[in-house]
Amino acid sequence: TLPTKPVSIADLEQIALDKLPKLVRQYYEGGAEDEITLRENITSLQRLNVPFAVGPSAFHRLAGYDGELDVARAAAKRGIAMGLSSSSTSSLEDVIKVGKTAREEIEEGSRQENEGFKLQDSDWWQQLYVCDQRTSDTEDFIQRSEKAGYTALLITVDRPYLGRRLASLREKFELPLHLRRASGEKMAQGEQIAHYLLNPSMHWHELIPWLRSKTKMKILVKGILHPEDAALALKHGLDGVVVSNHGGRQLDAAPATIDALPAIADVIQGRIPIFFDGGIRKGLDVYRALALGADVVLLGRAVLWGLAAAGEEGVGLALDIIAEEFKLVMALTGVTDITQIRRSTLALV
Ligand code: FNR
Repeated sequence: TLPTKPVSIADLEQIALDKLPKLVRQYYEGGAEDEITLRENITSLQRLNVPFAVGPSAFHRLAGYDGELDVARAAAKRGIAMGLSSSSTSSLEDVIKVGKTAREEIEEGSRQENEGFKLQDSDWWQQLYVCDQRTSDTEDFIQRSEKAGYTALLITVDRPYLGRRLASLREKFELPLHLRRASGEKMAQGEQIAHYLLNPSMHWHELIPWLRSKTKMKILVKGILHPEDAALALKHGLDGVVVSNHGGRQLDAAPATIDALPAIADVIQGRIPIFFDGGIRKGLDVYRALALGADVVLLGRAVLWGLAAAGEEGVGLALDIIAEEFKLVMALTGVTDITQIRRSTLALV
């Protein structure tokens, strides 16, 4: 239960920061080096929902409660899709299972209250770092995800090495040993967050056909910031791109994602969906991202703050606050349908 009723992500963030142990707070909050990109993600959005979903972020049980399971319940009850990190601390099967159960309960409830009420479909996506595409571990993980009901793979490509997050370099951050990975494996003694690193020699022309041969799930690449990479994504037949700089945690001074988005949207031209993340803290931010070409907006820290503040209830509150703010911006800019949100409507906000 919450001290006073939080009415914004900033309120949830404050509650979360006050509650979390220092090392977890630093891990969640931190960006690389001088945190230029981390700050720019947010301030660039200020200069200038509910097409949003939960983005993949690691180790939700560090926030307490049931971690990813609480996030899954809150999202599914609202028909909001969820991307699960491959560094999840709940099993990938359980995440879908509890989400579907929570949703069925809601559907039953709402059928009783309101005949004809239709909840948006939930959807589940699995994020993946490809360490070495030839290992059977990666293959097993992909096949398990497909079998469990995930419909897309988000292949994160902006983390061949871990960014220099200064707080974690000063004070070594180790994961508690009782946590388990998405695969169900236990954390190894002294295991570092850098456990899964990309294979830095990976190429589009070998990786994408290999992934296609292993799964029917959709394949998106997460971590696109340059229009030339967007063109490569089209050339290699990807099902979508995720415009992201990993929440400012990787290359410091990389552009804010909102600033990188328009040039990427110009290349993609609506041919495949553009997912977007970085600095989304308000419904207004979601509106701006849509106006500049995003189709789906992912929430990173906003969900973590909700989870740390109050478990499933806090995540639900985070999602509801952003949805409510987004609908208000739509109404006040005279937009009745999200397809009417375009660059020209940005002039209004
Ligand atoms: C992340 N992010 C991330 N991305 C990914 O592909 N796999 C992962 O395991 C993680 N883990 C992770 C942990 C934490 C603590 C954070 C804050 C972020 C990046 C995430 O998907 C997303 O790109 C950013 O969080 C978006 O920025 P905001 O919304 O946090 O500003």
